[in-house]
Amino acid sequence: MKKIEHIGIAVKDLEASNALYAKLLSTQHYKVEEVAAEGVNTSFFKVGENKIELLQATDPQSPIARFIDKRGEGIHHIAYAVDDIRIEMKRLADEGFILLTEEPRRGADNKLVAFVHPKSAGGVLVELCQDIDV
Ligand code: CO
Repeated sequence: MKKIEHIGIAVKDLEASNALYAKLLSTQHYKVEEVAAEGVNTSFFKVGENKIELLQATDPQSPIARFIDKRGEGIHHIAYAVDDIRIEMKRLADEGFILLTEEPRRGADNKLVAFVHPKSAGGVLVELCQDIDV
């Protein structure tokens, strides 16, 4: 793991939360991107070297919608940058962590992503992300 790449925060209303975070961080979001396969609309803020990702469900069955139903708005995942996501997935699986998918998937912001189940990671949903060269 190279660094914390971003912190993902589940929100009910992306526009309202963009306004809130613009005030909190004193900067505007730099992109909005829908990840249709995950049923989510995202926006990103830069905070120094790190980022905040806001996630709003676009589908009531999506993982973000279910998360908010159960726990309300708040921190959803911590994402770590990795050089080679497949090597890191294998390392974590060998260590006994439960990965949500066998293969990495295309995530927001030009990343390949994979998730580690919170029940194997101390209650925190962990995202691995590797830059896609564009
Ligand atoms: Co994320």
